[in-house]
Amino acid sequence: MSEIKKHEFDKLFWVTTKDGNVRLATINANPGKKVYTERLVTLGGVEYRTFDPYKSKLAASILKKMNVFPFKENNKILYLGAASGTTVSHISDIIGEKGSISAVEFSTRSLRDLITVAETRKNIIPIHSDARFPEGYSLIVPNVDIVYEDVAQPFQAEILNTNIEVFLKKGGYFFLAVKARSIDVTKEPQEIYKKVKEELISYGLEILEVIDLEPYEKDHVMIIGKK
Ligand SMILES: C[S@@+](CC[C@H](N)C(=O)[O-])C[C@H]1O[C@@H](n2cnc3c(N)ncnc32)[C@H](O)[C@@H]1O
Repeated sequence: MSEIKKHEFDKLFWVTTKDGNVRLATINANPGKKVYTERLVTLGGVEYRTFDPYKSKLAASILKKMNVFPFKENNKILYLGAASGTTVSHISDIIGEKGSISAVEFSTRSLRDLITVAETRKNIIPIHSDARFPEGYSLIVPNVDIVYEDVAQPFQAEILNTNIEVFLKKGGYFFLAVKARSIDVTKEPQEIYKKVKEELISYGLEILEVIDLEPYEKDHVMIIGKK
């Protein structure tokens, strides 16, 4: 029997699927449509989409017992490194019709998929731009409640701070997915995370949590903090 339970964080759920597995889920803002390989489960007339921790570092962070979950209905979000919209689509479910997620991606191929997702989810604004240069989108992105970055590139912390300075409200939150191997393959991941944390602190940012994403992602952490 399929079953549904509220997660401790608003707008998140635990769905027990017919095979007996308990999965994290959001309510599908676009019923009947999948965005990636997630499962759709209808219970009590509501359609849920499973939120896959192997495909989304945000879902992985939640399953690794993240304490801070600031995503709320009506939030404005800036998302850097949107790819084809996997995580973006779940944030779109959470923030609802009155929220907005400005989704920056520089790969034309990924952007094409992201545009398809945005056609039926009006709170997603796909932006074809390079996150290193926020001046390219400063006229269309509002002040935001959260900046989320997952670009898997060197200089991740610097890119984050450049965007935070322009767009993040004072007291707003940031999420930075750090892939150790994208920064330096010759160094130990722990050494890299320490350097990234020090760099964020040097920008005057406050770090709230650092979550190791094993077993969902190898050599990755999610750093969560505040401006
Ligand atoms: C690891 S993937 C992101 C996955 C996505 N966050 C998700 O969970 O669905 C990293 C993405 O960042 C994009 N990217 C890398 N550097 C970028 C930059 N400077 N500006 C914009 N996008 C960038 C890549 O093209 C790639 O699609």
